[in-house]
Amino acid sequence: MTETDDHRCDVARCVDTTRADAPLRHMVTVLDTQESFACRSDESLLAGMVRLGKRGIPVGCRGGGCGVCRIEVVRGDYVRHKMSAAHVDATDLSNHRVLACRIVPAGDLEIRVLGRMAQHVCAPPATDSAG
Ligand code: FES
Repeated sequence: MTETDDHRCDVARCVDTTRADAPLRHMVTVLDTQESFACRSDESLLAGMVRLGKRGIPVGCRGGGCGVCRIEVVRGDYVRHKMSAAHVDATDLSNHRVLACRIVPAGDLEIRVLGRMAQHVCAPPATDSAG
């Protein structure tokens, strides 16, 4: 598993986030629920998660400042943009615990959801009591 800061290229597979090529689509699997979704290489993981259609996925600042979208990348490559040290410290980063709104996939990913995100993503589907 590799992660790449915006433009740093210290990994075997360099990801140049400034390229104007058409974005690639990668599959992301949420291990907690075994759900998968496609996420483009030019959009945040959080944007892709929102498309899962789960009610109550916490979407906060979308800018790395509120910490509501914590996840752990278990497998796969990604590009990490700057995020608040108040929510993700050096230990978190070394364990690939990041903010979904501040990473983009650079390949297929397997993730786990953490904190408030887990409470919503892993909640059983709401049953329709109408009828
Ligand atoms: S939505 Fe606020 S840190 Fe991700």
